Amino acid sequence: MNGRAAVRGPWRIGLAGLGVVGGALLKFLAEQPDFAPSGERAAIAGVSARSQKDRGVDLSAAAWFDDPVALAGSPDIDVFVELIGGSEGPARAAVTAALKAGKPVITANKALIATHGLELAKLAEAQGVALFYEAAVMGGVPAVKLLREGLVGEHVQSVVGILNGTCNFILSEMERSERGFAEVLAEAQKLGYAEADPTTDVGGFDAAHKIVILAALAFGGAPNLGAAEIEGIAAVDLIDIKLARELGYRIKLIASAEREGTGASIRVNPALVPLGHPLAQAGGALNALFIEGRRIGRFYMQGPGAGGAATAAAVAADIADVIAGARRPVFQRPAGDLAPLKGADRAGHRDKAFLRLMVRDRPGVIAAVSEALAKAEVSIDSFLQKPVEDSGHVPIVLITHPASAAAIAEAVDHIGALEAVVERPRRIRVARI
Ligand code: HSE
Repeated sequence: MNGRAAVRGPWRIGLAGLGVVGGALLKFLAEQPDFAPSGERAAIAGVSARSQKDRGVDLSAAAWFDDPVALAGSPDIDVFVELIGGSEGPARAAVTAALKAGKPVITANKALIATHGLELAKLAEAQGVALFYEAAVMGGVPAVKLLREGLVGEHVQSVVGILNGTCNFILSEMERSERGFAEVLAEAQKLGYAEADPTTDVGGFDAAHKIVILAALAFGGAPNLGAAEIEGIAAVDLIDIKLARELGYRIKLIASAEREGTGASIRVNPALVPLGHPLAQAGGALNALFIEGRRIGRFYMQGPGAGGAATAAAVAADIADVIAGARRPVFQRPAGDLAPLKGADRAGHRDKAFLRLMVRDRPGVIAAVSEALAKAEVSIDSFLQKPVEDSGHVPIVLITHPASAAAIAEAVDHIGALEAVVERPRRIRVARI
């Protein structure tokens, strides 16, 4: 499975993609080439990237490839590491080419695994080579190995957490510094957390790729992106963050997967988390995850979910597994036995919701809002009215008792239609944690 017949010098790594993680991996291998437990060395033998700019590491011994597909198929590499990103295009083509050439593949590409994981797993297993992707989920935190190997004997019921460092950083910084979304996003990009296209992060798609992969590993299916309900953080305003805090909550982008029958309910959405909860305490670019299983109960881990050095360490762990000749299916079972994880019917799900309204300051408005809620059979759990703003409008925020998404949507429609309500109410789920 490790692709080499006999030991002959360092393991020759072909690396495609020299961004934040690729650059950190170059440094890692230059500093610690013998990190694998066997003491065998690994060295960069070939690289491919968009530009040949200096990465602060001597690459003169590595062959340069303009085309990552040519690198993937090169007879002069033993292992192909894909850090290009994206579910299609060169990343998919190069990973496919490497597997077809019988080379073990290591990737940090969650979009690729979430979208084409089953097809690639079938190819890897048919070829008898590894396809490892520890760095794809939670950066330096070994969530993939934990679910795939450590918990293989467990019946996992749910995985719930924070899986996007950029969104977590943005929401934390907006609250801490009382700055707007765009300014904080620019800072996250500068710090190297964000994906090349920030909509992948702020739209919730990056977290969705990751939770879909974790769900597959936890519940014994293949990743199914189509089963995920996805909502990002772009519509979360500073006022929502402040008002939620006054009610004892913090807004987080929560990714969750709960086993339901033979499938799973998989969601990514901004959600209110009680201030004292560990997920509310995981700030900055941290990632965090609760795993609940039938035998083990509930446990929690948190750590660096993004950033070059931490993610490169996860890639290195996969390289070490390849060197050790680790043999295991790409997911929990051989790919030929897997079907995409089925999505759940959420019609019966009931969640609390935070509703933020902006109303005109006049008598009878609160009564009209309560009536609109009552019409949709949604009842109020807590309520907060703030003083009149300079605009003459009054922010009102309320938290409902658990209600179906349909009932909340109906309530929002009724409230939004009231003459005294000046903008469509903002709805944010209260996390079920
Ligand atoms: N953009 C990702 C994040 C990087 O912010 O979490 C790691 O996948």
